[in-house]
Amino acid sequence: MKLISGTGEFTGIDTSTIVLFCFEKDFAADRDLKELNKRLNGAVQSLYHSGEFEGKRNQTFVLHTLNNLKAGRVVLAGLGEKKKVDDDSYRQAAGTIARVPSVKKSETLAFFLNKNEKESAVSAIVEGFLLGRFDMKDYKTGDDNKNDLTRSVSFISGNARLSRAYGKALVRGELISEAVILARRLAAHPGNILTPKAFASEAQMLAKKHSLKCTVLDEKQIREEKMGALLAVAQGSEQPPRFVILEYNGGKKTDKPIVLIGKGITFDTGGISLKQAADMDEMKGDMTGGAIMLAVITAASRLKLPLHLVTLVPLAENMPSGKATRPGDIIKSRKGKTVEIINTDAEGRLILADALDYANKFHPQAVIDIATLTGAALFVLGYAGAPILGNNKRLMDALKAAAHNSAEKVWEMPLWEEYRELMKSSIADLKNSGGRPAGTITAAAFLENFIGDWPWAHIDIAYVDLEKSGQPYIPKGPTGIGVRLLIELLSHWKKL
Ligand code: BES
Ligand code: MN
Ligand code: ZN
Repeated sequence: MKLISGTGEFTGIDTSTIVLFCFEKDFAADRDLKELNKRLNGAVQSLYHSGEFEGKRNQTFVLHTLNNLKAGRVVLAGLGEKKKVDDDSYRQAAGTIARVPSVKKSETLAFFLNKNEKESAVSAIVEGFLLGRFDMKDYKTGDDNKNDLTRSVSFISGNARLSRAYGKALVRGELISEAVILARRLAAHPGNILTPKAFASEAQMLAKKHSLKCTVLDEKQIREEKMGALLAVAQGSEQPPRFVILEYNGGKKTDKPIVLIGKGITFDTGGISLKQAADMDEMKGDMTGGAIMLAVITAASRLKLPLHLVTLVPLAENMPSGKATRPGDIIKSRKGKTVEIINTDAEGRLILADALDYANKFHPQAVIDIATLTGAALFVLGYAGAPILGNNKRLMDALKAAAHNSAEKVWEMPLWEEYRELMKSSIADLKNSGGRPAGTITAAAFLENFIGDWPWAHIDIAYVDLEKSGQPYIPKGPTGIGVRLLIELLSHWKKL
């Protein structure tokens, strides 16, 4: 789809459909709405009067213009109360618009921008629109494209001086959306298709396309690296593990990298500590952390961020079999620390442990990991946001600021001594499960044992990775939450 920026008055735009953003109960103050009302013989005022459309958040209304305007239809898009409107109001409104049938049937669509919109709001509109219309069609046979005819989307500014900046904002919004969609698509692929090997080839293909450096360790090389924790998780599966290393350096040669680690369990049955059957299919998304870090480093390179980045993705499938790790087994991690496996379903922290230790090779300035790590995260923040933990106030504050700006919410949990105690084993250095209490925190307390002397942040995206019903710009399915958060963080990165 083509995204075009331009300047003009909404009355003269030659397009099938034009979108006008509206503040709540703002008819009297909105000159464009009043002009439209005049041309449509009072139709708009009557909508506001009857309450059929009032500009409430995510409210929409389609008007046919019957030759009273150059555009065939006008879609009114509510932003909500003027003083509460922010970038996400635009993102949501655009996401809602994307799924309006009249919009899908419009070959050409134009968003009219005449409210002094910030550049970031224009990026948000692009994101909302592209993310809202996302639909995973890979596994549907037959022609499903009949319902989506939109070929070009214009962004027409009423103010010529803004339109150059808007052009840049369009590109940024499109690029970010493509990163989110990449993560969503990888997460949606089933376990029989997206094996550790297939994920690694995907990473290699992306690296080639976006000139990133890519190394993939196979099973033998993983053994040579002494990644005993990753191997212990992988050993029950017919699918061999992989370890992906991607590098982008848009900074100075001497810049220490920020290392981004994502959990890459391509399917999590729980292993011998087998999960219940209900919803187990959702565990095809247990590589979402890895998909996010792939998407983030790709976007960083496309956005030419002046940073040195490394992405690490440990990949394995967690299966029960005659070769699988047993509860009670003791394994040796890359770092040399021994771990008693209490529960083979606590596999994510094991593969992350070896990746965190591997990060030392890069002498990182900071390390961030993201993972669908604990079911307990659901009982911390529900579906509304992701728990974060870490060891550096400036890094945590930067993450919180990025969460605010991206509307991908996070909240910090404490890492107290009590939680560290729960992860000690009586027979080995550590155990991999501390039981039910504070499960999200004890998982992070386990990971902390494998970090080096650097700032570290951990993001648990269990449950926010998957949308059950559908939100304005998050259709049912994998959300890609974390991609926009981390791109926002890296876009404003300051040395810690
Ligand atoms: N991948 C799961 C966590 C998960 C559960 C993510 C539900 C998304 C939805 C993880 O590997 C896991 O099974 N964690 C266990 C840990 C426990 C055994 C200590 C959990 O949360 O139950
Ligand atoms: Mn598990
Ligand atoms: Zn898992």
